[in-house]
Amino acid sequence: MASTFQTLIIVLFTLLIKGYGQCELKDITVGTERTPRQIGGKQEWNVSFINTCKCPQQGLTVSCNGFQSVENVDLGVFAPVGNNNCIVNGGRAIAPFATVHFVYAWDPPFIFVPVSSRVQC
Ligand SMILES: *[C@@H]1O[C@H](CO)[C@@H](O)[C@H](O)[C@H]1NC(C)=O
Repeated sequence: MASTFQTLIIVLFTLLIKGYGQCELKDITVGTERTPRQIGGKQEWNVSFINTCKCPQQGLTVSCNGFQSVENVDLGVFAPVGNNNCIVNGGRAIAPFATVHFVYAWDPPFIFVPVSSRVQC
């Protein structure tokens, strides 16, 4: 009886730590929208990184294999860091439910997949 009770407490405690208030990498949403502009004959794209979690996330890196742009990219928002990865927002925290944007011009668009972040709950 005592051990069942202990197990229950441990399970509840684990749920509390894991399920309550925690965020994960999947709480970063990446969106790419076509803009009305073309730069040097290439379509311009507006990329959004949205933190859908109630805690800040910092040090967000995404895969950006082969990334190129004919338009200068705001390196404070999106910059290559090697290993086919790019760092978002200069590694600074993205606030809860906040979005950071940058635009680039290339055809076809690139797909950015989150690789890592540090959750600050
Ligand atoms: C990118 O999209 C956001 C809204 O999703 C908008 O606020 C921002 O002005 C856009 N930037 C450009 C350059 O189109």
